[in-house]
Amino acid sequence: NAEKPLRGRKMLVTAGPTHEPIDPVRYIANRSSGKQGYAIAAALADLGAEVVLVSGPTRLDSPRGVTRQNVESANDMLAACEAALPVDAAIFAAAVADWRVASEADQKIKKKEGRLPSLSLAENPDILATVSALTQGRPALVVGFAAETEAIIENGKAKLARKGCDWIVANDVGTGTGTFGGDENHVFLLTREGVEDWPKQSKDAVARDLAARITTFFQGVDV
Ligand code: C5P
Repeated sequence: NAEKPLRGRKMLVTAGPTHEPIDPVRYIANRSSGKQGYAIAAALADLGAEVVLVSGPTRLDSPRGVTRQNVESANDMLAACEAALPVDAAIFAAAVADWRVASEADQKIKKKEGRLPSLSLAENPDILATVSALTQGRPALVVGFAAETEAIIENGKAKLARKGCDWIVANDVGTGTGTFGGDENHVFLLTREGVEDWPKQSKDAVARDLAARITTFFQGVDV
């Protein structure tokens, strides 16, 4: 089907930040808007893929034709991703918190005169690395993102190797680029074959180009 070349393919996309609870009313978060991941989910659905969007808390509406699964923490996101498997491709665009609070307080932490609370942190699971390392049921294509403020290509290549994914979309999030929360993105696509410098364009255009590349990838792969 020329118009819906991804029909019959199931794809997982993660997007947005995670919220790591401190107590029932407080959390640790980051500035991810979720825009790039939502745009990718929309572009894949437009091409006919069945898309599960595992989303951290965002202000965005669900794209048309996408099944959205809302999560808060990194641990919840990993569980939702595992529940969505098997998929043909997995695109990990979420800005997952590296750390969570080691033990979430079950009541609101009270302010005490002359005493500051201290938070101890624990490492979160790396969802991209976990899915990339699956020996059974690994998606045929696993795509990660790398938000870098310097040495974008070098750091992106190191990430490709370390995480064990197939492609890395490396983007420049340095101060002044406006990538975080903005509508534009300048990315490099890193594959095992080499590096492509894509023009600075809207996040929607990046998503459409990436969805087109994913389509090309699957043209050579049996269902
Ligand atoms: O290591 P870093 O966070 O820069 O890697 C970014 C990539 O890894 C993104 O694709 C992000 O979605 C993914 N990631 C993940 N789970 C984590 C941390 C990052 O899936 N705990």
